[in-house]
Amino acid sequence: MSLDFTPPPDRHQTDSQKWQKYAGKDILPMWVADMDFKSSPAILDALHERVDHGIFGYARPVPSTLEAIVTHHREHYGWEIDPSWIVWLPGMVCGLNLCSLAFSEPGDNYLTLTPVYPPFLTAGRHFERRPIRVPWTHADHTWSIDWEALEAAVTPRTKLFYLCNPHNPTARVWRRAELEQLGEFCARHNLLLISDEIHCDLILDESLPHIPSALISPELAERTITLMAPSKTYNIPGLGCTMAIVSDEKLRRRLEHSSRGLLPEVTTMGYAACEAAYGQSEDWRQGLLNTLRTNADLIARTLTDVPGVHLEGPQEATYLSWINVAELKLSDPVVHFEAHGIGLSDGNFFGAPLNAYVRLNFGCPTVTLEEGLRRFVAGARAACR
Ligand SMILES: Cc1ncc(COP(=O)(O)O)c(C=O)c1O
Repeated sequence: MSLDFTPPPDRHQTDSQKWQKYAGKDILPMWVADMDFKSSPAILDALHERVDHGIFGYARPVPSTLEAIVTHHREHYGWEIDPSWIVWLPGMVCGLNLCSLAFSEPGDNYLTLTPVYPPFLTAGRHFERRPIRVPWTHADHTWSIDWEALEAAVTPRTKLFYLCNPHNPTARVWRRAELEQLGEFCARHNLLLISDEIHCDLILDESLPHIPSALISPELAERTITLMAPSKTYNIPGLGCTMAIVSDEKLRRRLEHSSRGLLPEVTTMGYAACEAAYGQSEDWRQGLLNTLRTNADLIARTLTDVPGVHLEGPQEATYLSWINVAELKLSDPVVHFEAHGIGLSDGNFFGAPLNAYVRLNFGCPTVTLEEGLRRFVAGARAACR
């Protein structure tokens, strides 16, 4: 089995959103969160096999797919998922939106910690639900929750808390004590917890376990909707296969009811890839994590000596680095770095102050990252001149 993460597959002139953005330009795309690696050999084989079968009707998961999901979560997180808890969805972002539709009313609001993955800030937009942004605090190289600000932000119309566990973009893994306090907070204010755990198989700091929010206590499980997908880790976001895991039957029925007729079903290819991801790709995932750790170290070492640039917080998880460039005083950091040949995500979209942060996707071969960092450093140094 090939576990080689070095040769960059050429994505120029393919259907890749990430690469199309800069078609015809010498700009390395390091923005949207998909990786420049082929999926695992097991996933590729499963997809080939499914294509060879030749019939692509409406799909339902087969028992072996459910078994792969259950076993993966039991072995890695000690979480015993009953397959009947799963509501299948074609994507995580529609899951985020669907939760606001299913579990709140027009005029209600929900809490989230900023900066955060941008769709958290628009999850209620289509349905007249409003996000309340509570900024993280950052001190001593650590991001933490401002509990006082969180308490102060709750209103009588607050119904939900949207959590990113682990967190995109701060790369933080939640500690048990924080999740316990969050559970207590949600119970006290009668909030449902929408826990997006899409990055949970991408923990880079081996001393930090991922703790599923629903495992904190039976009480929290009863008010938690976990959104989960193999898409980030196994690099299959284009195949649209997501799960809402909901142990409480009433909540599950409400979610199913809200999605009926609105969303397409998961496809045959999505299920095939999902089973091979969770069931047969562990060696590949470990190889990926090693490559990502090498990349994260390279970023940390490279940026230490660059004036005006700060990597804030250790890279505990994800392949997304959150970089403070405020001191460079750029009028548009993304445009500036594009002019130096690297395409980044704008921190402002994540709820960060204007022109203060960029996010860099290092889910790529180390040689590609080396070139990206060379361009990034050149851009930063040029801004300091
Ligand atoms: C936290 C988080 N949730 C959801 C998504 C997107 O999921 P999907 O492509 O299935 O909508 C991403 C993509 O980067 C993400 O980082």
